[in-house]
Amino acid sequence: MINLLDLDISNKRVLIRLDLNVPIKNNIIESDARILATLPTIKLALKKNAKVMIMSHLGRPQDETYDKKLSLFPIYEYLKKKIKNIKIHFSKDYLNGIDVNSGELFLLENVRFNKGEQENNISLSKKYAALCDIFVMDAFGTAHRIESSTYGVAQFAPIACAGPLLQSELTALSKALKNPDRPMIAIVGGSKISTKFNILNALVNIADNIIVGGGIANTFISIDHPVGNSLHEPKFINQAKILKKKNNILIPVDSRVGTHFSENSPAIIKKINQINNNEEIMDFGDQTIKNMIYLLNTAKTILWNGPVGVFEFPNFRKGTQKLAQTIANSDAFSIAGGGDTLSVIDMFKIKKKISYISTGGGAFLKFLEGNTLPTVKILQQRSLKKI
Ligand code: 3PG
Repeated sequence: MINLLDLDISNKRVLIRLDLNVPIKNNIIESDARILATLPTIKLALKKNAKVMIMSHLGRPQDETYDKKLSLFPIYEYLKKKIKNIKIHFSKDYLNGIDVNSGELFLLENVRFNKGEQENNISLSKKYAALCDIFVMDAFGTAHRIESSTYGVAQFAPIACAGPLLQSELTALSKALKNPDRPMIAIVGGSKISTKFNILNALVNIADNIIVGGGIANTFISIDHPVGNSLHEPKFINQAKILKKKNNILIPVDSRVGTHFSENSPAIIKKINQINNNEEIMDFGDQTIKNMIYLLNTAKTILWNGPVGVFEFPNFRKGTQKLAQTIANSDAFSIAGGGDTLSVIDMFKIKKKISYISTGGGAFLKFLEGNTLPTVKILQQRSLKKI
């Protein structure tokens, strides 16, 4: 890919696709982690005296129509506070061109208000492309989406390059996956079982060991034992059997079970061959936690996606808490990503102790599945053409 850092962007119209898809309630930004991650790129382009336009989606507007709740206006207010001594503008109406001065910044309104955005409509993509001399793809979190503002614009812009955040996400993930310091331990947890099996299929050949948690672990347990009301996926038992034969997956030996899915349900520790029909597994038991910590303490690289229990309920938090603390205290290169994982990191305040936290949710998972992200592919293709 062409790298933004290698281009002379002074006085050029530079359109940067960011992922500013952050939780906003009543005009209040609830987590600014993703916005903070974009600031170095914005500031770099301004410092180089480019005519800077930034664009992003926010949420999933119905029928591609304006919805005040999904406007990027609160982010405009936020940016004005964060970026000092720069003229910052907000534009709702930009598809037919806007005048940007060098060293100034325009935030464009939510791209998903534009008809055709999510279908990667060609004429919309060409309109975005006509806004700029250089298109910069820096939205790692949306790099798995083939949409006009991520993919189509990259096809038609005079120059299409990768921004620093996209580059650093790819570098960190490749470091963990392609040539990791070993032992490399992966943790795959959470409740969305079907998406996680694709990841397991890829990781089982890369990681030295995998720790499974949540509904995925229950699916493995259910190969040999009844799991009562536990979240698990019978459809994936055959896949689980095949994966289990690799002998590098840590499957729980005991669990914390409850009789109803509620934070008031008392947690009882049970061996995995003792689960009753009316019980559901909601966390690791103490022996499994010990096994997990032992394994994690051997790691030189840790790749973490997903909690291992219902961490939202205090009675069923211990496994995830010990997991988070062990990773935080480890000297291994640790990389974490995915929505729930970021909530766990926030809950246990260990952000500074993880080597790399990805801004990607779905994109992070797609990368773990071993796929080249489509926007990366198009940027690679564009780099082959004469610029
Ligand atoms: C995300 O939050 O995962 C990205 O911003 C992509 O959002 P989307 O799933 O609505 O495309």
